[in-house]
Amino acid sequence: MRKLKIVPPIENGNVPLMRPAGLAHRHLISLLELTSAEIEYILDLAQDVKAAPEVYQNALEGRTLAMIFEKPSLRTRVTFELGISQLGGRALYLGSDEVGLGKREAIKDVARNLSCWVDVIMARVHSHQTAIELAEHASVPVINGLSDFEHPCQALGDFMTILECKGSLPDVTLAWVGDGNNVAHSLIHGAARLGIHLRVATPAGYEPDRSVVADAKRQGADVTLTHSPVEAVAGADVVYTDVWTSMGYEQEAETRQEAFRAYQVNAQLMRAAGPQALFMHCQPARRGEEVTDEVMDSPRSIVYQQAQNHLHTQKAIFLALLS
Ligand code: NVA
Repeated sequence: MRKLKIVPPIENGNVPLMRPAGLAHRHLISLLELTSAEIEYILDLAQDVKAAPEVYQNALEGRTLAMIFEKPSLRTRVTFELGISQLGGRALYLGSDEVGLGKREAIKDVARNLSCWVDVIMARVHSHQTAIELAEHASVPVINGLSDFEHPCQALGDFMTILECKGSLPDVTLAWVGDGNNVAHSLIHGAARLGIHLRVATPAGYEPDRSVVADAKRQGADVTLTHSPVEAVAGADVVYTDVWTSMGYEQEAETRQEAFRAYQVNAQLMRAAGPQALFMHCQPARRGEEVTDEVMDSPRSIVYQQAQNHLHTQKAIFLALLS
């Protein structure tokens, strides 16, 4: 596989990279739908955007993004809204009470109405099926801003951050410790396409969905599932964790506290990983649960660089789908 490199800033004001033909006006619901070339293109573009934001400041002048939120958000809300405005467009925030996806109004009607007015829709939804249905009925691109099954935009920002810190992606070893959840699913799909080795440590019963692991194996990926955090992290380049109870699963919080107790990323686990290991978290973090303050605030933690890069990958996603 071609090694990704840090692309120098563009001098001529044109989008310099060859966009894979299939990306324009596409939906982004799952990383399963992207090829490795398409993911690499978005990551290359994100690096360009970060290096020379002024080149892109009018690239999407006059375009409008509708953002539907069925769940709370800090990073996704801010980076999508700022991202489109830094490209010359604007964003509309639609809270779940006003839209009532599938309750106040049929999902297909929301998709068809929004398509009359806006150029792109981002939706953070409970059910992955809602994102799929929006995409089926929208005539403009629909971006999954987190569902119960995937968080593709998160994974793209994360890959950009690993690339910045490690210099290339193929052969990086990423250890996931905790719940085999939406973020884990998108990381597995993406990692499989980028040649990243994956070790996933979850309690029994919280493994990633079988279909996601099967897809990674079909891609020829090196994925190991284990119940041992120590086994997963030994020698890894990156140790990644997420909350034990994702949004929408609050009624399981108590059972999960019990099940995940041995999966905390703390100084001892980082020592077991080795001195090369960096720490990542998609945030929000429950300090004292899945991660200790000591790890979250340590020099090996790249969580704020990770959060920062979402701005650049969201902009690259807009450019890839809309320009
Ligand atoms: N797995 C978490 C990710 C938050 C960005 C959740 O779904 O709540």
